[in-house]
This record gives sequence, structure tokens and C-alpha cells, in this order.
Amino acid sequence: MIKKYVEENKERFLNELFELIRIPSISSKTENKDDMYKAAESVKKSLLDAGADKAEVLKTNGHPVVYGEKIINPALPTVLVYGHYDVQPAEPLNLWDSPPFEPEVRNGKIYARGADDDKGQMFMHVKAFELMMKTGTMATNIKFMIEGEEEIGSPSLEKFCRDNKELLKSDIILVSDTTMISMDIPSITVGLRGLSYLQVEVTGPNRDLHSGLYGGAVANPINVLAGMISKLTDENNHITIDGFYDDVQLVSDAERAEMAKAPFNLEAYKAAIDVKVVEGEKSYTTTERTGIRPSLDVCGIWGGYQGEGAKTVLPSKAYAKISMRLVPNQDSKTIDKLFEDYFKSLAPESVSVKVESLHGGQGYVSPIDTPAYKAASRAIEESFGKKPVPTRSGGSIPIISTFEEVLGVKSILLGFGLESDAIHSPNENYPLFNFYKGIETIPLFYKYYAEGMK
Ligand code: BES
Ligand code: MN
Ligand code: MN
Repeated sequence: MIKKYVEENKERFLNELFELIRIPSISSKTENKDDMYKAAESVKKSLLDAGADKAEVLKTNGHPVVYGEKIINPALPTVLVYGHYDVQPAEPLNLWDSPPFEPEVRNGKIYARGADDDKGQMFMHVKAFELMMKTGTMATNIKFMIEGEEEIGSPSLEKFCRDNKELLKSDIILVSDTTMISMDIPSITVGLRGLSYLQVEVTGPNRDLHSGLYGGAVANPINVLAGMISKLTDENNHITIDGFYDDVQLVSDAERAEMAKAPFNLEAYKAAIDVKVVEGEKSYTTTERTGIRPSLDVCGIWGGYQGEGAKTVLPSKAYAKISMRLVPNQDSKTIDKLFEDYFKSLAPESVSVKVESLHGGQGYVSPIDTPAYKAASRAIEESFGKKPVPTRSGGSIPIISTFEEVLGVKSILLGFGLESDAIHSPNENYPLFNFYKGIETIPLFYKYYAEGMK
């Protein structure tokens, strides 16, 4: 019945997703503020069309949250679906083979910003809900909370949750915003990393200087910044910040051995991103480096002259954006402070340093002995014909740990993306296969979750 419904409505599902994708809901840009409302309204309408009793666009201090629900019977368990309708900026535009907000299908994949992250994945839930309503198979109550600020660190959602605890009351939060190993090796994400994201500003002289008149005699903030950054990690790719690893939850050898069973092809991994060798913290494998160990990366660095041709200038200021991915038990606020103290201690007297925290959040580990995990596992096993492997992802969805803290509800990360979907990158894509497979798998989750909660 599920397969038949999807088969009969394939084209319409895709066209409806395309309408949502065409709205450039880039949460970080002021110029797209109206698009945020348009996207929220579009999600609201799709929920009502699918069969929600009510759906509304709720104001927050930032971009609105779409809330919708269908209460079948208060005695049944309630699933809260979380997703986000906002997307990352599409730049650099010249690297896209087709315009980012004009979705098109090429070799079986939808190409567009948001095709996977998270419009494509979120929309699978709207269509799965429609399917369950139209086929009379809705086995639980369902609520939707679709936000518009995930890509900027969900600054308004914690307050929204605190203010709406009763409205959001649920037994489990269901999220599709992560990846699987592959369609042949289905997996369920059981770990997310936390995040500390900071911007640093290094100031030298009070104005840009002629690099001939002053060069060699005055410290150049870009040179100084580069030197400071190089001291943040050592020759073993260990992060040198004092106290950085103090709270890192160590994973036992037995658990590491268990995790190592998850299939991983290093040659394919390297080939897919065109690198000859992988590099990371000594004594850990690639999957461990992203799954159970923290990391530090410079995400942007600038200063001085960036325009065409040469300009002989010794800049007054240099900047960098630095992200640290954290593991369970590391607290992002504590890490922000440790970073700031350490980074400032690296500065020579020739410069002054400002450190600003841009956003952050905690990691998450999901237990696997729960009705929700078991339901997800059975659902995937039935629709993929293989039992899913639990994996820890290197990515972050900081609001997931806030949900547990504020709402007291755990999340299940039932993602259908692939690493090759190029989320946040040019030519982001989402295979049609994954989109439809997701719509087919999600109703099975509800079925087995309702059974398991009896
Ligand atoms: N959906 C991603 C996170 C993700 C992707 C987790 C794949 C696991 C696998 C989410 O939209 C995202 O991009 N999160 C940000 C964090 C945020 C605070 C900007 C990230 O991980 O950089
Ligand atoms: Mn996402
Ligand atoms: Mn994202």
C-alpha cells in the first residue's frame, strides 16, 4: 500500500518540493527576510493539505517556526517531527552547474540548494504524513516543528521550546537531517558533535601601512595570525589549547572495536574528495576522527588586499573564523572560554586580539535500546532489506541536545542523505531514490513505534 501510494504520486511530490526549494530561504541574509516568511507559509500550507488539524506560522525573535499537528487520540504516543526550512547561502554561484534555486533533475538527482539539507529531507515527512492520512494508517499523534534558523545556530528555538512546552509535548522527536553510509549500507546516526564557532580579530598598527616604508619593521597582523593559528595544533594534530580534552568522553576499546565494524572504504572516501592522503589526530581512524574525537578548523581567514592585481599594503587587521567540533560531555561555553584565554596568550605584544563567539552547542548521543531506535531499525530493515548500522556523525545539530534539556525528549536521527549530496557546497543534490525511499520508510517507523509503545 505504501509503495503504491508513492508510485502514484511521485511526480506531484517532486513538483511540490520544487516549489519550496524555489524560495531562497537563506537564514543568514537580511535581504531574504521575506523569503523566510514565504517558505514558512509554504510549509504550513503543505501540512494543512496533507491533513493536519491545524498548522500555523509562529513568530519568534528571529525567523518564524512552523507548527502543525494531527491528534488522532490523546491516549496514543506522540511523535514530534523536527526539521528546518532555512538553507545555507549558495555562494560561490559560478561553481553551480545550474542555478541553486531553480531545482532540476540530472542523472537521477535533484540539484538545488536545500535539495537535501533540509528541504528535501524535511519534505519527506510531510509526504509520509499525507500518505498515512490518505491511507488511514496514522498510528500515533503527530506534531511538526519546522524552524527557519538551524543554519545560523537556532538562536530563537530554545526560548520557543521553553515558551511552548505543553504544545510540544511528545514522546520522541523524529529528525531527518543527517546521512547514511550508503543506500547499500543503511545506517542510523547515533551521535552528533557539538560546536564552538568563534571569530578572531588581530589588530596591529592603527591604519594600513605602505609595505615598503614599514615592511620588516612593524608586525603584520596577518603574519601574526597565521603563526597563532599554527600553534593551535601540534605535529600529531592534537589541539594544544590548555584543558581542551579534559571533559572528552573516552570511548572504550571494546566500543571502538564495535564501531570499527561499520563498513568504511578509505580509498573511495579519498577519491570522492580528490585527496591523496587523509590527515588527523594520531592513533585514530578516519571514522573515529569525525565520530568520537573533537577537531579544530579555520573556516575563513581574511585581511589586507583582496582585489585584482597587487597592492603593497601592510594591513592593520586580520581576521579568522574558527570552528571546533566537540564530542559528548565537552561544553561549548567552557571551550569558548578556554579558546579565548589560550588564543590571547599566544599573541605577541605587537598586536591586540578580540575573540567573539558566534555560535555553539552540545553534542548528542542517542541510546539504541529504546522503542524509538528499535522502530527506526525495523523500518529501515524492512524497506532496505538490511539491518542498519549505528554510526556517529561528525556534523552538528546543536538544538537536539537542547530539546532533551528543555523538553525532556530524546531524538531519533533518521537521515537519508549521503556524503556525496554536497550539502552547504555548490551543486548540492539529493538522489530521487533517497527522497522516495525516505517517504516509504517513515510510515514504517510510525507503525513499529506505535507497536513498541503499546
Ligand atoms: N544537517 C546539518 C547537520 C548534519 C549533516 C549532521 C550531516 C550530520 C550529518 C545541519 O543543517 C548543519 O549544517 N549544521 C551545522 C551546525 C550549525 C550550528 C550551523 C553544522 O554542522 O555545521
Ligand atoms: Mn540540516
Ligand atoms: Mn546544514
